[in-house]
Amino acid sequence: MSAVSRAGTIPSSCLHEVFNAAERRERATGRPVIKLHVGEPYFKPPREVAEATAEAVRTGRTAYTSAEGMPALREALAVKLEMENSHRTSPDHIFVTPGSCQGLAALMQSMAEPGDELLLPELHWPIHLQQCLLAGFRPVFYPLGPDYRPSAEGIRAAVTPRTRAILINSPANPTGAVLGAEALAAILAVAQERDVQIISDEAYEHFVYDGEHTSFASLERGLPEHERRISSTFSFSKSLAMTGYRLGYVVTPHRRAADAMRVVQEASLVSPSTPVQYAGLTALKSRDSAVRNAALVRANRDRALPALRDAGLLAELPQGGWYAVLDVAGVCDDAEVFVQGLLEQYDVGLAPAAGFALRPVVSESVRTLSAEPAPGARTLVRLAFCGDPKELDTGVERLLAYTAERRASGGHP
Ligand SMILES: Cc1ncc(COP(=O)(O)O)c(C=O)c1O
Repeated sequence: MSAVSRAGTIPSSCLHEVFNAAERRERATGRPVIKLHVGEPYFKPPREVAEATAEAVRTGRTAYTSAEGMPALREALAVKLEMENSHRTSPDHIFVTPGSCQGLAALMQSMAEPGDELLLPELHWPIHLQQCLLAGFRPVFYPLGPDYRPSAEGIRAAVTPRTRAILINSPANPTGAVLGAEALAAILAVAQERDVQIISDEAYEHFVYDGEHTSFASLERGLPEHERRISSTFSFSKSLAMTGYRLGYVVTPHRRAADAMRVVQEASLVSPSTPVQYAGLTALKSRDSAVRNAALVRANRDRALPALRDAGLLAELPQGGWYAVLDVAGVCDDAEVFVQGLLEQYDVGLAPAAGFALRPVVSESVRTLSAEPAPGARTLVRLAFCGDPKELDTGVERLLAYTAERRASGGHP
């Protein structure tokens, strides 16, 4: 028997490493690092949300709820989904989760059969890959175009008889790509034709800067339940800056999927945190905050990112989300080296994107044997633009200065 478990073979997230490197640097120098490597917003959750949480604790509303979460919150979420997402569903299909991260992991566990494959975008949030491997899925990667959007043809070509589900993340982390109704409809047609499920991660639903967010499951609105195949995940973390509350939700397409998901949640959680669910009930009334927060991040994008485009580091402004993928190929052939130099010389943190493009080789039992990055990702880095505007501006200025220095010295300052 192997001394290392299957989970123990899965690579830890590159974000973990970058986070630690920045902390070490701060401790060593006593100077603050401008943290453009992490997606922590500078705006705060609405005040009334904190009050609702405290009130729930004070008044003793702290008992377990069901594995799905409180009926009142699930009913309110069903109304939100209908009104904001054109997604008609029933509270019975909704699960309140401690962050959409846990919701995604649970959803994958509820779907996976031995030997199944999950399709992921070639550049993806590293946690999606971990969740895929933990659930026992073999990861298969679908290509993204030069604008980081997938095409239905690219996805069709990646589907095999073992494909169980396709993960779609729009707006996307790390690329900021947004898929409109037409692109989603073409992907849905592939899923229907090849009879595979869809997981739609909509954590950044409110952060769409050019046009409107389309919730994938709204395209199945007219279908009877048994013909639906889209499971969706949503989060309170981004829209309302409730990152540490840990609150999200999963919407399953039909009763069978909900039954499987309930088992995973019973086994994983017993129930989500009750005071945090009261926070969610109040937060749902704060749509104005979500709209305001999106305007703040959009203003950051419009002010800080064009200079990166002009410097040849960014192909186009991200259409959504909190992140931009920069290509430093013109000044460095290894993003890790670039990022380390920027941290050491300018106290600015960026995330090398190689960790967003790992290509694990897995055994029959989905143990990870190796996980090298895709060669094309070696010069990519991710920058988060949801932070404090002044820090973002200073960080971008320093990044441009560092880039200019490297360029002037032929890539080797
Ligand atoms: C694409 C994507 N999905 C899901 C999440 C999870 O968010 P949470 O668990 O806070 O809801 C994140 C967080 O960074 C993310 O970037």
